[in-house]
Amino acid sequence: MKTAKWLESITPSPTLAVNQKVIELKAQGKKIISLVVGEPDFETPQPIKDAVSEALKKNLTRYSETEGVKAFREAICMKLKRDNGVTYDPSQIIVTCGAKQAISTSLDVMLDGGDEVLVPAPYWVSYPDMVKLARGVPVFIPTSSESRYKISTKDLEKYTTSKTRALILNNPSNPTGVLYTGEELLEISKWCLNKGVIVIADEVYERIVFSGRKFVSVASLSKDIFENTVTINGLSKSHCMTGWRMGYAAGPEKIIKAMKKCQSHLLSHIPTFLQHAGVVALNEDSYIAPMVKAYEERVNTSVELIKQYMPLSTCVVPDGAFYLFPTIDKYFGKSYNGKTMKDSIDIATFILEDANVAVVPGAAFGMDGNIRLSVATSLDQIKEGIKKIGETLGKLK
Ligand SMILES: Cc1ncc(COP(=O)(O)O)c(C=O)c1O
Repeated sequence: MKTAKWLESITPSPTLAVNQKVIELKAQGKKIISLVVGEPDFETPQPIKDAVSEALKKNLTRYSETEGVKAFREAICMKLKRDNGVTYDPSQIIVTCGAKQAISTSLDVMLDGGDEVLVPAPYWVSYPDMVKLARGVPVFIPTSSESRYKISTKDLEKYTTSKTRALILNNPSNPTGVLYTGEELLEISKWCLNKGVIVIADEVYERIVFSGRKFVSVASLSKDIFENTVTINGLSKSHCMTGWRMGYAAGPEKIIKAMKKCQSHLLSHIPTFLQHAGVVALNEDSYIAPMVKAYEERVNTSVELIKQYMPLSTCVVPDGAFYLFPTIDKYFGKSYNGKTMKDSIDIATFILEDANVAVVPGAAFGMDGNIRLSVATSLDQIKEGIKKIGETLGKLK
């Protein structure tokens, strides 16, 4: 059967390819340490799970409003005010199937064919294809470790054209864990406002920020910037609820209304009883702090281990999230057993086959000189994994 021609430019998630290889090796009886996962290794807190049973007992199983149960949207507004200092009305919120759908539907309603979206690289794997699915054109803004992988208004100036509609700004970043300061965000978002470029602020890792750092929400910066921002968030990362698929967008009513129109035909809404449990999650979140402490300890240990075992790599110290993004380009051109490493895919494959450690090649994030390591696994696995990666890379001559 034929599929649509235009879909040929859409690539499947590159992380799936790594996962597939891991499954094959495990099936061969190999013990693999996976530093691939993009989800917390902690369980969903019990009170949130209990709230689902309660909602089911109350028969909250019928259709809800397309934009989400009012009580849940009110809880989201409360959270945005409490944590981020931004005042939204429930009419400015739409509940979506994960933050993923919030980003993709917001692009759907903003873009006409050929409109451009600025995507700083390295980027979260799905952004470019989401833009393409919305008939837009992703325009990548390259960054480097020297600027801690952050963009500046100079970069925006260089890559913006008359067709630029939006900038996707992920803060803290997957894959680098780097956080923009309030001053940096203010400069970027003022610039976007003046040029009529909407900021899609993907803040899904906002609660996972390490000691001494301060997260600032783009929409909190000024009234005008608030009007020019679509805030994306969800419960996957902060509340260990990846499988629940609970995300949301908050923004100008015009955008949210348009998203609601799309969603009414495509999804209706996420399960009603889950939304009621979402209210409990957002009201009581004392379990987040110990989890963040654990990620911070793992990240700090990993940074030291990378220094010790991967002498040709450098790693920007993350401010949050649960990833590290060390460079590996100094290993390019080196060989082992007749195989020469030419890119991050070669390096990740070599690490998987020789060290039995799974990592994601930087190419998946639009930056070929790096690999991504996730610390959403035990400290023991991390320690053993990085040591093995170092030993394997040490074989390259
Ligand atoms: C930067 C970023 N944005 C959005 C998402 C999507 O999260 P959700 O599970 O809420 O769809 C992810 C998930 O990995 C992510 O890393």
